[in-house]
Amino acid sequence: MNKFKIFLPVIAALFIFVSCNTPAQVKTDEIAVKVDSLIELMTIEEKIGQLTLYTSDMDQTGAFIRKEYESDIKQGKVGAIFNAYGTDYTHRLQEMAVNNTRLRIPLLFGYDVIHGHRTIFPVPLAEAASWNLEAIQNASRIAAEEAAAEGLHWTFAPMADIARDPRWGRMVEGAGEDPFLGSVIAAARVKGFQGENLTDLNTVAACIKHFAAYGASQAGRDYHAVDMSEIMLREVYLPPYKAAVDAGAVTAMTSFNDLNGVPATSNHFLLTELLRDEWGFDGFVVTDYTSIMELLYHGVAADTAHAAELSLEAGVDMDMQSGFFQQSLAKLVAEKRISEDLINQAVSRILTVKFELGLFDDPYRYSDKEREKNNIMRPDQLDAARDMARKSVVLLRNEENTLPIDKNIKTIAVIGPMGSNQRDLIGSWSAAGDWTKAVSLVKGLEERFPNANIIVEEGCAIEGNDKSGFKRAENAAKKADFVILALGEAYWMSGEAASRSEISLPGAQQELAEIIINTGKPVATIIMSGRPLTINWLAENSPAILQAWFLGTQSGHALADIISGDYNPSAKLPVTFPRNVGQIPIYYSMKNTGRPFDANSKYTSKYLDVPNEPLYPFGFGLSYTTFTYDNLSVSKPTYAMNDSIKVSVEISNTGKVAGEEIAQLYVKDHAASMTRPVRELKAFKRVWLEAGATAIVHFSLHPNQIGFYLSEKEYVTEPGKFSIFVGGNSNANLETSFELK
Ligand code: GLC
Repeated sequence: MNKFKIFLPVIAALFIFVSCNTPAQVKTDEIAVKVDSLIELMTIEEKIGQLTLYTSDMDQTGAFIRKEYESDIKQGKVGAIFNAYGTDYTHRLQEMAVNNTRLRIPLLFGYDVIHGHRTIFPVPLAEAASWNLEAIQNASRIAAEEAAAEGLHWTFAPMADIARDPRWGRMVEGAGEDPFLGSVIAAARVKGFQGENLTDLNTVAACIKHFAAYGASQAGRDYHAVDMSEIMLREVYLPPYKAAVDAGAVTAMTSFNDLNGVPATSNHFLLTELLRDEWGFDGFVVTDYTSIMELLYHGVAADTAHAAELSLEAGVDMDMQSGFFQQSLAKLVAEKRISEDLINQAVSRILTVKFELGLFDDPYRYSDKEREKNNIMRPDQLDAARDMARKSVVLLRNEENTLPIDKNIKTIAVIGPMGSNQRDLIGSWSAAGDWTKAVSLVKGLEERFPNANIIVEEGCAIEGNDKSGFKRAENAAKKADFVILALGEAYWMSGEAASRSEISLPGAQQELAEIIINTGKPVATIIMSGRPLTINWLAENSPAILQAWFLGTQSGHALADIISGDYNPSAKLPVTFPRNVGQIPIYYSMKNTGRPFDANSKYTSKYLDVPNEPLYPFGFGLSYTTFTYDNLSVSKPTYAMNDSIKVSVEISNTGKVAGEEIAQLYVKDHAASMTRPVRELKAFKRVWLEAGATAIVHFSLHPNQIGFYLSEKEYVTEPGKFSIFVGGNSNANLETSFELK
């Protein structure tokens, strides 16, 4: 049989194979073939190099840096570098890898592009307050575009940790307290970063972090132990990570904490049974900074080799910064303590992402001078950041329509440490952001009110007890027609390793606020912070309050847009604001208890010294207009388990200006086999209404959205009575109900 005849069946098989698979499937299979054949050629040392991630010394995001990273690259002892960006630098490092190693495997470049790369967007908690998934996805898309223009392939985002303890500094990095809101936001971020196709030069690989339940660190103290039932884990903390997996994230990061006694980094249940076997995640798992080494401190590993063995066997693929894989895996294989198959599996997952990014076609494709010049801080990107910022500011109070201020106002006094501030505006995890390019509140006001006399007095610093500026500040307030109090935290008071045991205004700012507000002038207080602050006195005494978080590069313009009324605030709180630390943890979806609070009865669930209610509830936010909700109804009184539950409500703009309302739908299960929260967010819709207009808003729920875990492995929706509440915050009292059969 001649040669051609031998190949005939092979060609036919290939044709059948290709024609039965989608292009994406063919691509995946093609990559799998390439990965497998490359692994066949690799030595154990070359494989272990691919499982190792080191930081450059361009930026520092952890305890220590390994200075020898460049020689590691040349020796093939590292397969990925983080905290290195810029086309020149990444090109130089990439050449070291490609030109000095036997198989010329390209490096992966990662960085914490959390809320923008050069154009810094509002911190993630602020963006979450927008409840605007399109805007959030677009913000991530722009972050990816800028990062990829500077040689980056991979971002360590989205941070999808549910957080219900504002003492925890990293609350700022996530989407707040609610599993439903956190899930849709995590998915939007993944889609923004990764786009439709990872090979696209304007996209980067996402990384779901920190897996898992890092936000439940005991007492809000960073890195602390986490302990909860698996049912609580599945109902509250896991959904956003799962949503990110379902959105196609190609990497995940283990969290520092232990979970029920087992550190996440050596937790086979989390990393293999749940993430891979149950959820079908097929990307690679990287640890957080030196987390494998930290197994020694957790007290679960006896030595370096044991720590490496535990984490690889649990499901870790890449070791960030500890070097323990580099030090131990070859020996562990030689001693038959681990199988080389485990290493091959990890290498395969990592090489697959490198192929998907197109790095084997052209290792330098992301390090492109042209794109670096044209794709960074463009006017359209800055405009998007300004719009995202406007959408993120929550109007907490506005007595007698103190805001917006008259556009012809004569004298404005801006008082407080955040008035001219620029550094703090870009918040923590500000990547390659240049704070000197941030637009301060004062600058934004000067541009928006060019004819006004704007007096600026700091009054006091963010922290410390120096009150020597108080008198000047008070005199400035007395001269002004309107006073803007600009108060808050420093950027480093939230973010990693930045938990606070008290969450009041730092320093002497409260005292300054009292002096200024007691002048009797019209005052709007702007709070810039990475967490809810216990601003109880301001909530009673400042005529207007804006929660501005940290709004990024365009802060001043966005705030001026709101203060002038050019933009009508629409944001809603993604976290509950406690009255004091003693109430924590506090969140809207609490359980009712067997003795719900009753003012007329001693023996009910309460504190002696503070109400149970928060200062501001989840989902709360005012507008310059007012909205009413009427005629809430369901399409029928009874539904079967496979029905779609149709809900409609009438929303009217009863004020004088147009505005956007975020209508929220909460569900209560009246009687179930397990205690259920008093209510849970299950849907929301943003509605734009002109003054005087009315709209009918429709929601659709499926019974499987209103179920719960009867046990760790059994998710059920039970028949029975359910209530639906729809309104502008989690205290919505417009109610209807239905029966599920
Ligand atoms: C840090 C953070 C993590 C970050 C990583 C790399 O310690 O915990 O969020 O992505 O190290 O900088």
